[in-house]
Amino acid sequence: MPPQSTPVIRPVREDELEAWFQATTTAFYIWHTADPGAVAEARRPLFDLERVIGAFEGDAIVGTFRTFSSELTLPGGGLVPVNAVSAVTVRPTHRRRGILRAMNVDDTGRAVARGDTASVLIAAEWPIYGRFGYGPATWTARWTTRTRAVRFLTSRAGRVELVDLPTARQLLPEIYQRYRRDQPGELARDDVRWDFDLGLRELPGRPRWFGSVAIHRADDGRPDGYARYHGQEHWEEGIPDNILVLDELHATAFDAELALWAYLAEIDLTATIQADTRRPREPWIWHLADARAARQSRLGEMLWVRPLDVPRLLGSRSYDRSAELVIEVIDEVDGRPGPAAGRVRLEASPDGAACRPIDASPDLTLSAAQLGAAVLGGTRLVDAARARPPTEHRPGSLATLDALLRTADEPWCTTWF
Ligand SMILES: CC(C)(COP(=O)(O)OP(=O)(O)OC[C@H]1O[C@@H](n2cnc3c(N)ncnc32)[C@H](O)[C@@H]1OP(=O)(O)O)[C@@H](O)C(=O)NCCC(=O)NCCS
Repeated sequence: MPPQSTPVIRPVREDELEAWFQATTTAFYIWHTADPGAVAEARRPLFDLERVIGAFEGDAIVGTFRTFSSELTLPGGGLVPVNAVSAVTVRPTHRRRGILRAMNVDDTGRAVARGDTASVLIAAEWPIYGRFGYGPATWTARWTTRTRAVRFLTSRAGRVELVDLPTARQLLPEIYQRYRRDQPGELARDDVRWDFDLGLRELPGRPRWFGSVAIHRADDGRPDGYARYHGQEHWEEGIPDNILVLDELHATAFDAELALWAYLAEIDLTATIQADTRRPREPWIWHLADARAARQSRLGEMLWVRPLDVPRLLGSRSYDRSAELVIEVIDEVDGRPGPAAGRVRLEASPDGAACRPIDASPDLTLSAAQLGAAVLGGTRLVDAARARPPTEHRPGSLATLDALLRTADEPWCTTWF
């Protein structure tokens, strides 16, 4: 084997973007049918080049890593700035030489310098990111509904109307914005994303979205929910059993959500609603006479969270109960203490929380990844801790923090990136 040089990790220049896309294509098997030059041209205005990172071996890009800023909603509605990580790849000929590790070190430094509270990502594979301090924090599932078995026990409020795409383009970002600010685990979305989600613009190598948008209006006429969906025709022996694929359904009030589900379930010629990236526990099914009309499958984790600023992360969320404890977080980046490392005192109560660095003996020592998994309330700390139990310096402190971090409603993230 020839000696291996250490790649240089740096932002790409504009003229290197095509090669950068070529590199991500090679590792991900996506856009294989598309011309990377066309992809680079279409995406260039959407990217902050300072945050499109390459691992360079000479002129060759052997690793890719891109980030962008978003805002994460915490339990109770606290909003914190996060570093959203995407397009992580290493050239197959260069795998397992520490290139991802090096890109992660570079990224953690940049995120801390920007003042981000946490980094977030959606992992291609479970085993990759725990070592870098990320924990699986939100969960989603597919719900498949047999619409002809649906009967609602309760009546619905407001009205549902179909809107054309320009109207949807006006209304949806605002409804989403109100929804996500109240939904722990959800992320702020770039405005331009709606052009693609609504099929108003097309990205090379990606099928253009084509479908329908229904909105719900409350009794006062204000739009407070939407369903974006498309169909798959399915006729067998002359019987219409079409599948309605629900791309997303969000509302700022549960009444609106329920009314949208009721609307979808009544659409003629349709036998099934297939909805991915939904909550593992869907409240609307409890309004059905027979909740088995809707079945859950494909449970999986969605958003991974890596704490960067522990005092801000823990101090910005709400808690349903009162407790006080000193938490020690173990975090390591590049052989040195990482940004989450250290001790904090968390004083939490339903009236508010404070979390400050402190030099005192800890009640509990846990890893950054365990804290990241549990901080939104969607993964129980005791589960995240099963294989490598945190050290309890005070008996019962694991149970105390587990109960404190849990939330009545699960966090939910539906924003793919
Ligand atoms: C995942 C990927 C980026 C890893 O890059 P890499 O440069 O090989 O990773 P590194 O050499 O820096 O590995 C660092 C550590 O993570 C481990 N690791 C890396 N990828 C892993 C994987 N897919 N599964 C399990 N462990 C993995 C390595 O074994 C190494 O462990 P060690 O420190 O205990 O020795 C690369 O394999 C890849 O491009 N995969 C295809 C695309 C993909 O899945 N990207 C992730 C998108 S979210």
